[in-house]
Amino acid sequence: MKRIFSGIQPTGEIHIGNYVGAIKQWVELTEEYDCIYCVVDYHAITIEYDIETLKQRTINTGLILLACGLSPDNSKIFVQSHVPEHTELTWIFNCVTPIGELERMTQFKDKARQHRENINMGLMDYPVLQAADILIYKAGYVPVGEDQVQHIELSREIARKFNSRFGKIFPEPQAILSQAPRILGVDGVNKMSKSMNNYIGLLEDKETIWEKLRTAVTDVNRVRRTDPGTPELCNIYTIHTAFSKNEVLLEIDKGCRSASIGCIDCKKTLFQNMMKELDPIREKAEALKKDENYVKDVLINGAKACSEIAKKTMEEVRSGLGLFWP
Ligand code: AMP
Ligand code: TRP
Repeated sequence: MKRIFSGIQPTGEIHIGNYVGAIKQWVELTEEYDCIYCVVDYHAITIEYDIETLKQRTINTGLILLACGLSPDNSKIFVQSHVPEHTELTWIFNCVTPIGELERMTQFKDKARQHRENINMGLMDYPVLQAADILIYKAGYVPVGEDQVQHIELSREIARKFNSRFGKIFPEPQAILSQAPRILGVDGVNKMSKSMNNYIGLLEDKETIWEKLRTAVTDVNRVRRTDPGTPELCNIYTIHTAFSKNEVLLEIDKGCRSASIGCIDCKKTLFQNMMKELDPIREKAEALKKDENYVKDVLINGAKACSEIAKKTMEEVRSGLGLFWP
């Protein structure tokens, strides 16, 4: 079976951008692929973070993945630092990765701008660790949001460089994008993200979600209720495509273009459909919070299974490199 790998950072509240851009398709893909999903704690320490809460946020991230429908029966779920081969392979990949490639990564440039006081080596090396995450499992497919595509392309290049020098060990992984790979924040301008206060949290209460949706920016050219709108310019419509059925989308599209429905009506429909999907997730998360030991066990057992695969790959890698190894 073809293998999938993807990861999520335990950096803060998981939002509907994460869900729509990534996690929702992670769950769908479990039906056809051998899936490995990882809470990437070593990526999270490349920026300033709160030491006191990292552990709990790591567990909570695992909890949310389970609440969304992942389970040890359909995938392997684990914490990155529990399988140290990821960092070992990173070192080796460092030796085939041109610095120039890392310097031109958009995410690195953005984060370096945001964290001028701490532009550390790890921040620059972040995509190499990401390549190691994927390739240590020889995963061929990586479901991510659009912001990660450049990193996956770099992973392909690292695989290619490694293979041509040390023997064909790694596949060249491809990104898999969801139908809504880039969700903007409620500001309608920036990508929805944990670091900006423009997100709708996956587990926020209904009232808060509605308040955020109600006031979210739509198509900026639609000023008056009677102005026709353009769905493809509207972030709310993009979110609709993830939560609403095709017939609803057609109606919204028609109604928006002809101004027969207004933005608030459109948002009400979205809210209802969102809640249909998010209510069960919230309930499951509440139940899992009462059984945190289960979540921890899932993560620990997931790491055991992943360790075995990672160890095998490292044996091949060491042999390809020509290391002396007992
Ligand atoms: P992160 O929270 O940065 O670890 O991201 C986890 C996953 O969510 C990655 O696959 C991202 O590409 C995806 N993602 C994050 N923000 C968004 C967004 N605003 N729209 C779509 N996908 C996103
Ligand atoms: N960099 C990814 C993000 O911020 C998270 C990540 C780490 C990842 N390792 C990965 C995604 C490997 C896919 C594959 O979203």
